[in-house]
Amino acid sequence: MAKRIFVTRREVFSSAHRLYNPAFTDDENELVYDKCNNYHGHGHNYVLEVVVEGEIDERTGYVIDLKVLKKIIIENVIRKVDHKHLNLDVDFMKDVIPTAENIAVKIWEQLVDKIPNGRLYKIRLSETENNYVEYFGE
Ligand code: NI
Repeated sequence: MAKRIFVTRREVFSSAHRLYNPAFTDDENELVYDKCNNYHGHGHNYVLEVVVEGEIDERTGYVIDLKVLKKIIIENVIRKVDHKHLNLDVDFMKDVIPTAENIAVKIWEQLVDKIPNGRLYKIRLSETENNYVEYFGE
């Protein structure tokens, strides 16, 4: 029977964001988002982990070649977000409040159809050393 296994590629990126909901008043925004509501934004060093699930290819011994996975993540995510302002510069974050939760969902959407072997299993996104979110696609 084929062996089911999970492989992970880790990438880091640095981005600015501002948490702000235009449907809230200024006071509500400050109450909900506190420091993250800072008018001119602030930055994080994000850690992204992309987990692909699949079976080991008997010829290669791989689920997916991690060089290939790296390239897909760089082209579809990292180049678009690294050293950018998530509220202003990133097409796939348009009109989205850039919480870690929403960023993770949007990164999933960028990658899910682009994995050539195996299938996307999980996006894990760390915003600080102590805070991370995980998304499994539903
Ligand atoms: Ni923040």
